[in-house]
Amino acid sequence: MRVDVRYYSKNGATKKLAEAVAAAVGAEAKTVDEKLEKYADVVFLGASVYGGKPDPSVAAFIRDNAKNIGKIVVFGSACTGKSAYPAIKSIAAGCAVKTAEMFFHCKGQFWFFNKNRPNDQDCADAADFAKKQIKILGMT
Ligand SMILES: Cc1cc2nc3c(=O)[nH]c(=O)nc-3n(C[C@H](O)[C@H](O)[C@H](O)COP(=O)(O)O)c2cc1C
Repeated sequence: MRVDVRYYSKNGATKKLAEAVAAAVGAEAKTVDEKLEKYADVVFLGASVYGGKPDPSVAAFIRDNAKNIGKIVVFGSACTGKSAYPAIKSIAAGCAVKTAEMFFHCKGQFWFFNKNRPNDQDCADAADFAKKQIKILGMT
């Protein structure tokens, strides 16, 4: 099973999570600017929330790589508890790309809110989530 990790990060929070996820699944964390080189059964896609939505480059990545994506697994952060997951699921569905039912979300620092989040525990939780998803998706 081929697994890739892509992310978009403005200030480093999603990058930090992506590196934890990538280390857990034995892949390299790359930005959404890097196209998938070949078909990946699972793409862990790191996307956080800006003005209520994921960055447009995340949608562009899905659209441009749709043929090479078996299934997307979303992870990310936001100031609030609201994940980018529903928006990504809808974008992916529009490109006939499947999205896993489960996603990882944690608090992310924004101005003086959620200082130092994602923290080490968030990264450990993201890594644990990614390992569990690999097990689940490997069986389906
Ligand atoms: C320009 C901007 C807009 C944001 N808008 C939202 C928002 O609408 N809702 C929210 O919960 N968090 C919002 N946030 C907080 C980010 O989702 C949070 O800081 C996240 O951890 C950023 O991840 P990054 O450092 O990888 O870019 C915003 C942050 C920025 C910089």
